[in-house]
Amino acid sequence: MRRKIAAGNWKMNGTSAALAELEALAPHLVQDGPDVVICPPAPLLYRAAEMAKASGIHIGAQDCHMQASGAFTGDISAAMVADTGATFVIVGHSERRDAHEETNGDVRQKVKCAWAAGLTAILCIGESGEDRAANNTLDIIGGQLSGSLPDAMTATNTVIAYEPIWAIGTGLVPSLEQIIEVHDFIRARLITRFGHDIGNAIPLLYGGSVKPDNAETIFKAENVDGALVGGASLRASDFAPIIAALAAS
Ligand code: PGA
Repeated sequence: MRRKIAAGNWKMNGTSAALAELEALAPHLVQDGPDVVICPPAPLLYRAAEMAKASGIHIGAQDCHMQASGAFTGDISAAMVADTGATFVIVGHSERRDAHEETNGDVRQKVKCAWAAGLTAILCIGESGEDRAANNTLDIIGGQLSGSLPDAMTATNTVIAYEPIWAIGTGLVPSLEQIIEVHDFIRARLITRFGHDIGNAIPLLYGGSVKPDNAETIFKAENVDGALVGGASLRASDFAPIIAALAAS
């Protein structure tokens, strides 16, 4: 049985007041159910991690730097993330790849830094709408996987999130068949490269416009082990039914 994970990415939303949503979410965690990870903005990490000790919610950062330390004004290292009490970090989100021109090589370095700091990396990959229209989806996904995933992956240090860029924040969601095709492809690639034990153990999350009303369908896919959720993770009242759908899947 693979670990199921419901991860919420708050992006650049929320100040201290948003921490109330963590409190509101706590009663919705399911005994022996999915792991719940919330990735708030960096200034909230420490307080979120302190609050989450009682509830069992895991806290993650949305990014870390690709170097361990140094003269990088405004950036945050993986060790700093770990020092807040957070245990996860998202790396390679398409919004970082686009707006900050992060390459697969950069993302690979970030994953290594995350591992060195003892964090679980949530590695994001996904094709653009143009890639999908040109039938290049699996080529792009395969290239991102081999380019941004270092060799030292273990059964527990990595989660992979498939997030088609055209589905993020748009309300558009791939068909279940399209999701299954990509997730099965990722699983097969992982098994080929890392062997059965590790390849089968890595949770694969789907991300892109996951909402309470489509979660149940998405979680039907065998190789979908959870979701990375943006907009619908901001309020406990939206995120809780997604956790419940995952627990029931
Ligand atoms: P969305 O974002 O759920 O708002 O589409 C998903 C993501 O970017 O992780």
